[in-house]
Amino acid sequence: MTGAHSFDSPPEARADALIVGLWSDGRLTPSTAAVDDATGGLIRGLVERTETTGKFLELTTLHAPAGVNAKLAIVIGLGERAKFDAGAAYRAAAAAARSLSVKVRTSVACYLAEENTAAHVAEFVAGLIVGCEGPDLYRAEKKRFSFGEIRIGGEANTAALERGRILGESVNLARRLVNEPPHAMYPETFAERAMQVAVETGLASEVWDQARLERERCGSLLAVARGSIRPPRLVIVEHRGGPADEPPLALVGKGVTFDSGGLSLKPSDSMTTMKCDMAGAAVVLAVMQAAARLKLPRNLIGLMGLVENMPGGAAMKLGDVLTARSGKTIEVLNTDAEGRLVLADVLNVAVERKATKIVDFATLTGACVVALGTDVVGAFTNDQSWCDAVVGAARRTGEPLWQMPMFPEYAEHIRSEIADIKNTGDGRWGGAITAAKFLEEFVAGTPWVHLDIAGPAYFEKPKPWADVGGTGTMVRTIVELLGG
Ligand code: BES
Ligand code: MN
Ligand code: ZN
Repeated sequence: MTGAHSFDSPPEARADALIVGLWSDGRLTPSTAAVDDATGGLIRGLVERTETTGKFLELTTLHAPAGVNAKLAIVIGLGERAKFDAGAAYRAAAAAARSLSVKVRTSVACYLAEENTAAHVAEFVAGLIVGCEGPDLYRAEKKRFSFGEIRIGGEANTAALERGRILGESVNLARRLVNEPPHAMYPETFAERAMQVAVETGLASEVWDQARLERERCGSLLAVARGSIRPPRLVIVEHRGGPADEPPLALVGKGVTFDSGGLSLKPSDSMTTMKCDMAGAAVVLAVMQAAARLKLPRNLIGLMGLVENMPGGAAMKLGDVLTARSGKTIEVLNTDAEGRLVLADVLNVAVERKATKIVDFATLTGACVVALGTDVVGAFTNDQSWCDAVVGAARRTGEPLWQMPMFPEYAEHIRSEIADIKNTGDGRWGGAITAAKFLEEFVAGTPWVHLDIAGPAYFEKPKPWADVGGTGTMVRTIVELLGG
């Protein structure tokens, strides 16, 4: 995308393609009505014959409509007007862009629904940018092409357009990091990419290598890394947008660049998508990039724990007892419960950096997917008002998220006979919650929300508004939370 401009009159728009909306009660938006008038009632005719219904995400493509400058117009179903929100705007735009971007378009003009708030405009632009990028990183012939130019009609203001562009590009960054195959994306290469982003956007950064992690006594994270020939990394990036003496809010991400399960080896079918196990770290980097580009007026610290979980000769064993950075001892009873081992040490670093509040992101448990399905993020907390803030932000961006309980009873399941704590619950029941209870042991009472993104981080099947592969889930929600 080279730029974004506002302008009026859809039929006269100088663009290759137009996007206009239709409500499910058959009502045309003013822009759609203008196109309809110019075409002599083409769209109303389609509605009357129920060819087009306005059902949410229904796409109708009009080729070379007479009376309209653009060679192509897409009518996108907006669903019920009362239910239309920022999340719907994002999805509608992404669906339209997924369809339009199969051909090169030098300019696309979009006319949203009437009464657009700045938030809707930003989400619409973000959706357009996300919908133009496919998962085909390694295909010679690309199936999708970014629009040369995006134009937004109506009340769009420059700030909302710019915010949308930043959101969309950050979601795409997270998606791309996840979609990279594990041979290319491992702790060192992820760290390099993070440094690149830091340099480009002006984030302060540091990378802890193996030796530093040892000096810092990150025994829990290092134990996971031992089974792989790829050395681990901890990447720390900082955005200093607030007062110099203001302690930061911390974003912590699980960055297991491939999760084979370790000696508790996963069956092949469960392993096929495990390049996605660094999606938490990808969200952190993507949000930090957006925070820097949006110049958010607050201090943020992003911490990404990067390891590969492999069953090499030096791999941690079942029954091993690790000493985490906090000093707590952990009995390892399943090497496939590695995410919590990584996060134990990274959360401890966040606490040491005096984080006032923490959010962590992790593709942590299959149990969370069993509980909530593949579309919904699980939220766990030790501080209800901090969780309410996260839930509120998710509601505003339309990303499905549901809070899970944290009764003290669940903590009983991770008591060990020989160490302070063990890394699995008794059996598999409540596995998402026992995992969260484990993490809670390492936040030292800091207000904290854990987001288990194991379901929505990676789609195995496409949706009208999303491709297979990395989704960038929670990027928009957390930027919203931070007041972007
Ligand atoms: N990375 C997995 C969780 C996961 C599952 C992510 C499906 C995405 C999709 C995690 O490290 C894991 O293996 N968890 C185990 C925990 C168990 C051994 C206690 C699980 O969920 O089975
Ligand atoms: Mn695992
Ligand atoms: Zn994992």
